[in-house]
Amino acid sequence: MELTHRPRRLRRTESVRSLVRETVLRADDLILPMFVTEGEQQRQPIESMPGQFRFSVDELVRECSEIYQLGIPAVNLFGYAEEKDDRATKSYDPNGLIQRAVAAIKETVPELCVQTDIALDPYTHHGHDGLVVDGEIVNDETISVLCKMAVSHAEAGVDWVAPSDMMDGRVGAIRVALDDAGFDQVGILAYSAKYASCFYGPFRGALDSAPKKGDKKTYQMDPANAREALREISLDIEEGADVVMVKPALAYLDVIAAARQAFDVPIAAYNVSGEYGMIVAAAERGWADREKAVMETLTAIKRAGADMILTYFAKEAVGYMR
Ligand code: PBG
Repeated sequence: MELTHRPRRLRRTESVRSLVRETVLRADDLILPMFVTEGEQQRQPIESMPGQFRFSVDELVRECSEIYQLGIPAVNLFGYAEEKDDRATKSYDPNGLIQRAVAAIKETVPELCVQTDIALDPYTHHGHDGLVVDGEIVNDETISVLCKMAVSHAEAGVDWVAPSDMMDGRVGAIRVALDDAGFDQVGILAYSAKYASCFYGPFRGALDSAPKKGDKKTYQMDPANAREALREISLDIEEGADVVMVKPALAYLDVIAAARQAFDVPIAAYNVSGEYGMIVAAAERGWADREKAVMETLTAIKRAGADMILTYFAKEAVGYMR
């Protein structure tokens, strides 16, 4: 048979395939989300996320040194707050857990890009990302707390703050607050298109932060919407976001790709806890090869257009790259 085009020629050997490979995952693309807890010498296994831990600050620093040596450029910290109240006052305590964690990492591994979550849910009884007044998650009052939280992290030495709350206008307000406090070099990684997703379940177990009442649908986005994501992203860019995020990643690859087409700022994608859990569980049952599933997933997120990926598989993936 005479055939002009035989695309299989470019798939014949691994050498040829490597020449034509369009997307290559690197350690440099990865950000490891980490959980911090009070105490010393603590590496508490997280029941809802097998293989992940809550680290006390001393252990966190140890782990961060290792991560940096492996070539992973960044971590994103979440605090397990023991003291919760209705105004999330612990979120901006200058001696709070996250503030101490940031300072400790910066002292030992100053080159590591340290990022922190900016949202109130771990610090409130009700588990919502904003303050609740008469049953409503209030926007503008929440933002003033977020600004204090961001500035307190900047004082501790954070590189990037990552507002994940989906309140309107918080990126602009945080930018002004940081600049006014003299932190014009602290970056903002904005959770711009964050969906009201079922895939955050295991994370809420890790921080004991599930909303006690209701859901997050009045602030996080409807999974059915893509155009709205572009609008959210463009508002965050206008407000001064340095990097914009789509979250979760896997069920939203089309949104990542559309954002890549529409904007020229770096795009992050969050391979969230439920996506982690699906691979871990399937591999445990022998339904998927864990290594292949991890690498295929992360490569796909990058192929869709993400410049950087937050993933609990960061350390493991770097192991597979060697
Ligand atoms: C909270 C926050 C959540 C995640 C990151 N920051 C949970 C939520 O919005 O309820 C989820 C991360 C994950 O599932 O891995 N502001």
